[in-house]
Amino acid sequence: MGKSTGTIGILTAGGDCPGLNAVIRGVAKAAMHYGWKVIGIQDGFRGLIENRVVPIENIHVSGILTQGGTFLGSSRDKPHKMPMGDTIMDMTEVAVANYEKLRLDCLVCLGGNGTQKNAYRLQKAGCNVLTLPKTIDNDVAGTEITFGYDSAMTIATEAIDRLHTTATSHHRFIVCEIMGHDAGWLCLGSGIAGGADVILIPEIPYNLEAVAESLLNRRRHGKRFSILAVAEGVRNRDTVPAKKSGKKAKKKETKPEKLLQEAQNNGVHLVREPVANRIARELQAMTSVEARVTSLGHVQRGGSPTAYDRLLCTRLGTKAGELLAAREFNLMVAVKGNRCEPVPLKEVAGKTRTVPVDHPWIQTARLVETCLGDEPV
Ligand code: F6P
Repeated sequence: MGKSTGTIGILTAGGDCPGLNAVIRGVAKAAMHYGWKVIGIQDGFRGLIENRVVPIENIHVSGILTQGGTFLGSSRDKPHKMPMGDTIMDMTEVAVANYEKLRLDCLVCLGGNGTQKNAYRLQKAGCNVLTLPKTIDNDVAGTEITFGYDSAMTIATEAIDRLHTTATSHHRFIVCEIMGHDAGWLCLGSGIAGGADVILIPEIPYNLEAVAESLLNRRRHGKRFSILAVAEGVRNRDTVPAKKSGKKAKKKETKPEKLLQEAQNNGVHLVREPVANRIARELQAMTSVEARVTSLGHVQRGGSPTAYDRLLCTRLGTKAGELLAAREFNLMVAVKGNRCEPVPLKEVAGKTRTVPVDHPWIQTARLVETCLGDEPV
């Protein structure tokens, strides 16, 4: 491999997750190994706009492999729509000017779908970029898995395990709301691993009658408790526009995330009511069985990465270091089978990878009598 040296800036953007520090360490150590200088940019793209940087030497990335969060800080701010005081401004030119001022040869961006898009915008504006796929949602296109997913899935699975014992004691339904944005990977994975009796994911709009019927069927068979794993992005079949079925949509649903985003863009930070509350309330009314709700929320993003994620983060990070040494830019480091491989950023930016309804995990869940909300079990 051709060897070259230069300077990289690393930033972490979007929602945090376990493994970010492990990737920073992997990239930085491998880059230093090849003789590159490393600069840390604080709080995602906002730090680039505001020129808030910290030097990263070997000592700074020692001992951080197991630490959750990101020592660089993160934000959801986008260069082209940056809240600046009372207004939102396009700060792309400032980002590029600071990239040049810092004499960067490449900006390494650790983030999810939003970050892939924002990095691609900077690529088009003239910066060299490399990205790594981070998110507990596992919904980044072009890679088979994202870092952070396994850790969050492990946390959610443990929560479902714990809910089982208390639900059994009280003969209740417990609805557990799981993150994942518009993708069902986290809910489906942890739901299967935790043995949830009902798993509702955004990709399969649910019918509450089918869910209630499945819960009552379990009771008829002597199973007096049930655990429902519900993705935060679930959609009720009666409120989603019917697609090719020819049926007319009953009601158009405005996504709570969209409303929240709009509010956030206007500087208002709202807290969403867990969708699990409504589902539990309605199921309790339909079945006369006591229901409770647990919304796992940001617990899923906290703490130390799993061994799987530590290994994945180190593999992805060091692969990025190799690409830097070869001066291969404008790529996302993806997982393909058991290899880490670069894919052109332009091919993945702006795409989302949701759960295909014919994914083998769906059939797996059905074969262990899990209700997926579309038909009673
Ligand atoms: O993308 C990760 C994620 O945790 C989603 O699962 C969730 O919808 C969102 O971030 C929550 O974002 P925030 O931390 O801004 O509340």
